[in-house]
Amino acid sequence: MRRTVLVTGASAGIGAALARTYAHQGWDLILTARREAPLKALAEELAAAHDVIATVIPEDLSDPAAPERLVADVSARRLSVDGLVNNAGFSRVTGFLDTDLAAHRAMIQVMLTAPVELSRLLLPGMIQRGFGRVLNVASLAGQMPATGGDTLYGPIKSFLIKASQGLHLETQGTGVHVTVLNPGYTLTEFHDVNGSRDQVSGAYPAWMWMDAARVARIGYQACEANRPSVTPGVMNNLMAGLARFLPDSLALRMVANHAKRLERL
Ligand SMILES: NC(=O)c1ccc[n+]([C@@H]2O[C@H](COP(=O)([O-])OP(=O)(O)OC[C@H]3O[C@@H](n4cnc5c(N)ncnc54)[C@H](OP(=O)(O)O)[C@@H]3O)[C@@H](O)[C@H]2O)c1
Repeated sequence: MRRTVLVTGASAGIGAALARTYAHQGWDLILTARREAPLKALAEELAAAHDVIATVIPEDLSDPAAPERLVADVSARRLSVDGLVNNAGFSRVTGFLDTDLAAHRAMIQVMLTAPVELSRLLLPGMIQRGFGRVLNVASLAGQMPATGGDTLYGPIKSFLIKASQGLHLETQGTGVHVTVLNPGYTLTEFHDVNGSRDQVSGAYPAWMWMDAARVARIGYQACEANRPSVTPGVMNNLMAGLARFLPDSLALRMVANHAKRLERL
């Protein structure tokens, strides 16, 4: 039976790697992001390599109308969505007050509101058909106490972690799996887009970085196994565990040191 997965933020990084992983497992793809050219190139590559159908629908998820428009477009093409990967995202390291309201709104829209709306729009069909997969890409930052300089990024990812866990519970026994993937430092365009490549490369050695293909495989496997959440990498799990047990004041001091090393505070 053919299955189709909708991947947001598929033009680069972890999203493109997840699209590759799903295609490798025989899934048809609906690829979305703002940049059409890399989506088309990836669709052609994966259709040829894995004999899957790859459909490209460019969208800007910072537009509040985008989730409903995207789902309407998918329906108009008579595609049914069996898998949803909420991956599109970015961070801003310019500080809360030096970032304007429109930019804050866009961040909340892309990484918090769009995943909620896409899940609410697509889950009923999955439950009705008795099969579905939702993989939400959050972050290790969402498991840490707070962030400084990129103030809203951690809280948005914490929201996504908690919302995914709740959905995981609500969908038990329906044939739908909901999993949240919490990557740590991963080699993608992410730190080029937020302009912090030099600072993060200087502060953290190469062994702390994971490659996107490995992160994607771990996320895919965890969702297939119906795990509520997965954090790839031993070091990332150690940090997440440490953050849970440290007193808030100490954990906050550690995070402040981290932000200072990255010149964000
Ligand atoms: N890299 C890391 O170290 C790391 C660590 C933890 C979590 N993450 C999370 O992993 C996810 C993927 O990030 P990445 O590392 O793969 O970064 P990336 O290489 O910069 O990819 C980000 C993706 O999001 C898309 N995107 C950004 N703004 C969008 C918008 N307004 N509308 C639609 N799509 C948009 C981008 O596509 P377009 O530019 O074409 O729109 C791109 O496909 C994010 O949610 C991020 O928070 C990354």
